[in-house]
Amino acid sequence: MLLSEIHRNTKEKFDELKIQTSEIESRTIIKKILGLSDKDFIMDIKISLSNKESEYLSKVILQRLSGKPLSRIFGSKEFFSMKFDINEFVLDPRPESEILVEKTLDLIQENNLKSILEFGVGSGCIIAAILSNSIGTKAVGIDISEKAIMTAKSNLIKNGIKNFDLIVGDWGSSLDRSFDIIVSNPPYIKSNDIKNLDKNVKDHDPLISLDGGCDGLDCFRVIANQGAHLIKDEGYILVEIGHDQTKGVEKIFENNDFLLINKVKDYSKLDRVLIFVKKKIKK
Ligand SMILES: C[S@@+](CC[C@H](N)C(=O)[O-])C[C@H]1O[C@@H](n2cnc3c(N)ncnc32)[C@H](O)[C@@H]1O
Repeated sequence: MLLSEIHRNTKEKFDELKIQTSEIESRTIIKKILGLSDKDFIMDIKISLSNKESEYLSKVILQRLSGKPLSRIFGSKEFFSMKFDINEFVLDPRPESEILVEKTLDLIQENNLKSILEFGVGSGCIIAAILSNSIGTKAVGIDISEKAIMTAKSNLIKNGIKNFDLIVGDWGSSLDRSFDIIVSNPPYIKSNDIKNLDKNVKDHDPLISLDGGCDGLDCFRVIANQGAHLIKDEGYILVEIGHDQTKGVEKIFENNDFLLINKVKDYSKLDRVLIFVKKKIKK
């Protein structure tokens, strides 16, 4: 059988279920299971599937058709060109969060920032991407989930990252030092909206990584309040937000002596990252 036939059969199954990324997902599955490369697709090589390969391929296609994301099926995800193990205790890293990393790296470089705090590390993808792309920086990462912290630790070690301290905690309640910059992609979905989320999100991402309370803004209130004490004067806070939360989040941070200095849009041209600076308090 030609590789293009296997690819077409797989893609068609995904198309029937309106999986928008059918082309790339079909290729990814086939490449992974058969150990092939993009070049093999270009050459359209002949394949004879062993029984084992054929069974494995069918099993993965069925899992995907049932709504399980590929990252959950294979247990890993690429983020900022690094590989992260994913399990039921951590959010599946989203491509949009790479914007948060890019903007943080710009600020670190422009202002020679050294100490970073991340609230809600999950798989560790954000803190790992920041540390591996900045020199001389140190980071503390917090998560309320012990299992998430264990996953993040293992991911940072596997990616050869040093200079980090990962702590189980309820936001910054156990911290007594200040940082140059705080970053967070907190849970920000309204509790009542969670049931309407896509199956591949609501059935697979942990509730604690999604639920932002009644209006979706609960975590921002705590982060802004604690951030005011945990950040140095003129330090920065970057937060990832939901597309309709700009005004609400801006107000919360302004009430805690932060000034909004930049709004960054994602690939769909929606506000995704807000950057605040802590106002210098006159004594
Ligand atoms: C949206 S996920 C972000 C995970 C990861 N940073 C990422 O972007 O892929 C939010 C994270 O915040 C953590 N979290 C929720 N409530 C928390 C709290 N009270 N204190 C610390 N972390 C919390 C969750 O366990 C989850 O890992």
